[in-house]
Parts: sequence; structure tokens; C-alpha cells
Amino acid sequence: MEIFKDYYNNTVTLSFSDHPFSESPKHVLVLTRYQNAWLLTQHKTRGLEFPGGKVERGEGASDAAVREVLEETGGVVATLHYIGQYYVNGKNDQIIKNIYYAEVNQLIEQDDYMETLGPACVKDLPRQIKTDAAYSFIMKDDIIQLAIKKIDQLLDEG
Ligand code: GTP
Repeated sequence: MEIFKDYYNNTVTLSFSDHPFSESPKHVLVLTRYQNAWLLTQHKTRGLEFPGGKVERGEGASDAAVREVLEETGGVVATLHYIGQYYVNGKNDQIIKNIYYAEVNQLIEQDDYMETLGPACVKDLPRQIKTDAAYSFIMKDDIIQLAIKKIDQLLDEG
């Protein structure tokens, strides 16, 4: 379990165990790869971030992950792995988010990318992501680097 403060000074608790905070979380974040690059979405107000969002009523979290990747990037998910879960204790609300790793094998242009401007591929995330104004606050969570390490381990294990 890792505990840290986010960009807004909210306390965030991260765990890589199996759904430690909720069996049915209401949010998802999908660390997505396409053709040897990270596949991000350009959120209209927050900036560059991994696709994700809210789980809809009656929907499973993994289905929400696949849907959000398609809606926000046009990416078709070929493989999806559960990585972990985090809990954000905000001033007004608490949220629980599943983290997934997804591999996309096709990009289909969408008429509308919801609240985003659509896909953006980057080879590497910037080292100074915490102070990079192009990136969303979501990408400034320590979660991102820790989850990437976890994904590397998973891929090494093959
Ligand atoms: P809408 O209802 O779509 O407008 O969403 P919202 O802006 O109310 O945000 P949401 O319900 O997604 O999240 C509520 C609050 O939780 C946000 O204002 C953030 O402060 C916080 N939050 C959401 N996602 C993350 C995240 O990935 N990391 C961190 N650190 N905080 C988050």
C-alpha cells in the first residue's frame, strides 16, 4: 500500500492487490499502449492524460475501460490487464479507481471524442511531468510511475 498527496493535496492510497477498496469501483484509468508508444487523450481542459472515466450504471469496470479507450482515443483494446486500485480522499468526494493496462491494435477515427480532442501518442512520458503544463493533474499522481513499473514487471514475467 502506498499513500501520498496528489496535485491538489488530497490523500491518495494505492494498492496493487485485487480490488482492495471496492469490488465495483466507479472510475477507471487505462494505461494504454499502441505501436510502442503510450496512447493518451487530449482532454479539453485538463490536458494530456491516459483515457478513463466513470463506470456507467449496470456496466462492469473492465467494460468501462474498453469503452473509455475507444471513446477518448478511437483505440480498439486487444488485451486488458487489471493492475491495481486507488482511493482518493477529496475535500468534497471520495473516489475509487481501477487501473488497467491495455494494448490497442487499431485506431478508428471517431466523429466525437467526448470531452477530449482525441488521441495523442508519446514515446515516453516527460521526466518533469509534475511541472509540465501540457499534462493533466491525473498524470501527476505518483500512481503513474508506480503502475508503469508494475506493468514492466508483468510484461517481463511474460
Ligand atoms: P464530472 O462529474 O465528470 O464533472 O467529474 P468531477 O470533476 O466531479 O470529477 P470526478 O467525479 O471524476 O472526481 C472527483 C474528484 O476526485 C476530482 O475533482 C479530483 O479531485 C479527484 N480525482 C478524480 N480522479 C482522480 C485521479 O485520477 N487522481 C487524483 N489524484 N484525483 C482524482
